[in-house]
Amino acid sequence: MKQRDQWASRTGFILAAAGSAIGLGNIWRFPYVVYGNGGGAFLIPYFFALLTAGIPILLLEFGIGRKGGGSAPYSLSRLSRKFEWLGWWQALICFVITTYYVAIVAWAVSYFFYSFNLNWGSDTEGFLFGTYLGVPEGVVTENGWNFGGIQWHILLPLVAVWAGVYYVLSKGVQRGIERVSKIFMPILFIIMVLFVIRAVTLPGAAVGLDHLFTPDFGKILPGFLGGTNPEWYTVWMAAYGQIFFSLSIAFAIMITYSSYIDKKQDVNNSGFIMAFSNSGFEFLAAIGVFAAIGFMATTSGMDVSEVAKAGLGLAFVVFPQIINSFPILNGTFGALFFLSLVIAGFTSLISIIEVLIAAVRDKFNISRQASVNWVVGICAVVSLAYTTGAGVVLLDIVDHYINNFGIVIAGLFEVILIGWFTRLATIREENNLVSDFRIGRWWDVMIKVVTPLILIYMSYKNFEQWLNTPYEGYPLHAQLTFGWIMVALTIVLAFVLAYAFRWKEPMKPKQGGR
Ligand code: ALA
Repeated sequence: MKQRDQWASRTGFILAAAGSAIGLGNIWRFPYVVYGNGGGAFLIPYFFALLTAGIPILLLEFGIGRKGGGSAPYSLSRLSRKFEWLGWWQALICFVITTYYVAIVAWAVSYFFYSFNLNWGSDTEGFLFGTYLGVPEGVVTENGWNFGGIQWHILLPLVAVWAGVYYVLSKGVQRGIERVSKIFMPILFIIMVLFVIRAVTLPGAAVGLDHLFTPDFGKILPGFLGGTNPEWYTVWMAAYGQIFFSLSIAFAIMITYSSYIDKKQDVNNSGFIMAFSNSGFEFLAAIGVFAAIGFMATTSGMDVSEVAKAGLGLAFVVFPQIINSFPILNGTFGALFFLSLVIAGFTSLISIIEVLIAAVRDKFNISRQASVNWVVGICAVVSLAYTTGAGVVLLDIVDHYINNFGIVIAGLFEVILIGWFTRLATIREENNLVSDFRIGRWWDVMIKVVTPLILIYMSYKNFEQWLNTPYEGYPLHAQLTFGWIMVALTIVLAFVLAYAFRWKEPMKPKQGGR
């Protein structure tokens, strides 16, 4: 019987988990989510979501992985044979995310190199969508797609990122993932601190920070409590969405990572440390990003709201503009920013792929290397779609659907199935037995009642919103194929993997210490 991999130390586990959590979601997503959702007031729904869903689900996943001692499908099927499909669904969600996440990391690699000579020129938007991404005219028409061919200058960094991923994952849990996390996470922190110091000392930084943190309570409260925003609930949904994506929960990563811990090791404290490091990093990044935006607004005489952009535009359009307008050392500042994206994205990417590697390895009882070859090979081929001219549009659609209808609904199934159809308190008790401090019954209430109610409401609202205005107004065929059919396929395949194949000599978890 094969021995399961294990983290060499508790620090190694915390750093790897933090490496997974701290990713693209922290550096470019969080700043614009805070900004667009009430600034400082957003912190209330944010911390509410962290405490009611983020940390409870994180501890739940730590408990499932620790107890199950295997990949997500394996650990879940040890709770009940009927739950295996959910593990596969979450693993397949990871497959979908991997294929586009790797493309964004590849773009960040290109932009890291472009920083030195400011290759993007003065029209950074035209450069991104025209020269770099090569988005063709009429990319999604009413009847079809104009893919526009592979962009070779995207393929090159993509291959480089895949080579790095392949190397690290082939090395295994301790010598690959843990070692990389131990080296990269402190480097990432230092780079971020340097970036923030430079950003907050720029003229106009305070203007940006004011915009970021000045609370607009009207935005987050319902009308009867003095709110001014009829869609106040979207702010709360954004907070939950951010917490799920940023903490890497509900897509099986933390189940997989915690299956590699020493069973005698603390989990509760590690969970809190990791969750608060993730939030701390998010705040740091937001301060740096908005200080830089304040600088740009001040020097160009614009309002912060005109400069701040959502989504990819923030990192790949606004930042290059900011870097252009730097008095000195613009290349260095740009390189720091894009390097932080590359590192943060890379350590998250390996965690997302590890979910699949562990699942395939457990189910088919093959060697780690064989599983790495299959998983990386298939993901790499599919990711080529994102190197075409239509890649960015495809990414936009797939990302929206997998987040709003994949992660949220898989998370809902997770809390309902495990909360109501297993002995939930046993998982808490088992975590408590080895942990530095105990978690009380409040946790059961969060998993059984609070989180399911909120996720049901979110799913309903997401669907209602979709019925009213299909996402970004893309034609129906595009939303059907790369939205609904894509999500449906992940569910069908999950059942096929769970029921059409038997476990071949399932690995028994290693009991006790190392
Ligand atoms: N948690 C990862 C991120 O924030 C996926 O990007």
